[in-house]
Amino acid sequence: MVWTKEEFSAKVRAGQQIKHPWKNAFHLEMPFGLINDPNGLSFYQGKYQIFYQWNPYGCEHKQKHWGHVATSDFIHYTEPVLAMKPDCWFDKDGCYTGCAFTENEELHVVYTGNVRTETMERQSYQCLAKAEADGTLSKEKILIERQPAGYTAHFRDPYVFFRGNKKYLLAGIQTENLAGRLVLYRETAGKWELVGEIATDFNAMGYMWECPNILHFRDEDVIVFSPQGLKAERYQYQNLYQTGYAIGTLDTEKAVFSHGKFTELDHGFDFYAPQVMEHEGRKLLLGWMGMPERDAEYPTRENGGWMFSLTIPRELVLKNHKIYQYPAVELEKLRQKEQSSVAKGAHSWEQVLPRQAEIELRICLGKAKKIAYAFYFGAERLVFIYDDTEKSMVINRTGMKLGGRGIRRFKLDCKGELHVRIFMDRTAMECFFQQGEEAAAILYFPEKECVPELSVQADEDWNQLTCKC
Ligand code: FRU
Repeated sequence: MVWTKEEFSAKVRAGQQIKHPWKNAFHLEMPFGLINDPNGLSFYQGKYQIFYQWNPYGCEHKQKHWGHVATSDFIHYTEPVLAMKPDCWFDKDGCYTGCAFTENEELHVVYTGNVRTETMERQSYQCLAKAEADGTLSKEKILIERQPAGYTAHFRDPYVFFRGNKKYLLAGIQTENLAGRLVLYRETAGKWELVGEIATDFNAMGYMWECPNILHFRDEDVIVFSPQGLKAERYQYQNLYQTGYAIGTLDTEKAVFSHGKFTELDHGFDFYAPQVMEHEGRKLLLGWMGMPERDAEYPTRENGGWMFSLTIPRELVLKNHKIYQYPAVELEKLRQKEQSSVAKGAHSWEQVLPRQAEIELRICLGKAKKIAYAFYFGAERLVFIYDDTEKSMVINRTGMKLGGRGIRRFKLDCKGELHVRIFMDRTAMECFFQQGEEAAAILYFPEKECVPELSVQADEDWNQLTCKC
């Protein structure tokens, strides 16, 4: 079954009319099928261009197409189009993740063509395509055929960047000894040559690294990537797969990255494979709100026929040798009426919330050492517990009935004042702790449509609580 452009467009329009209580209002998602990684993020012809992995024909991780929307304000989006189909021999089993760049005033994308042969052998091709005015992509050629010697066919997710007048490409790869790595290529006279495997200090960090991105802040490089195969620890690596970054300097001549530690970008349950674009000095990240191989944790498949969302755009800032994340200022335009309340010298407080809200919670700890705030949806609840003795935050989803549950724990030192900005959509929540120091993306699926309540409890009286929403 292959839909024509018209059939497809009719289905998108019809799908967008369906009001399902779990459909998010300001998180990007598709009316049907499965989406995952954001792809080809760029700014072109006055608009942010957002491509993403999309299987429009079902909620399985197969038949990966690229979808596309554009926006100038992150509030209004164009109608989703199918930008690219896996219809060539070199991408027949998926147009996998890739990036976009502008050259000669044209927008190009480089992506991975995924192939499974009759004997189920995997093959990977890094391919070039060009964007047309309507958001569709025309495939041009294969840039890199298969993987270099010494690696498996897990070679994907190209990210093109420029240094001086040279063009480079970074991609995730797996060694024949099953270790995750990055490789660097350079273009010379239209040909892509391998500079080498990027030497790092991360020699035992999982069996595959996906979706690398490189950012440049003043004199530092930041490489963001998604390693697979890290063991969960008390305060980190608690999802099946991770996403984080390291700060340092990439020597593009020698393919050496001198860097600091690997730091996770998000501590929620549902965050993976983000991509970053740069425009007018801002670095904006969109991530996939989902997790590979955890499909059973997302009830929208059976009850709705769509899966996953993208995060809101987050601006990345490098400060104190750390990446801070802020919701893009554009989202302030979503605010409608504001209510604010203050509770002094108390240890319990509650408030009814609108079904979607931006919430700013600030609690001056005072004597309190443990603060729990919970979103109640009838009898179900999503709980956050800050522990000032342990200097940690716990997100507890075990009080929800449907979808993934469990606990996530990470280090957080609120230094006397807990500050959280929460973007609560209908099933997607993103939290920014301590002015962007930490972030958490969480999907939650209240069984019954009901008015949420926010309730805060502490072990002792706090000095002051303020809540704006
Ligand atoms: C990450 C990923 C990428 C791949 C794509 C396929 O979620 O596995 O490595 O290109 O998804 O959809």
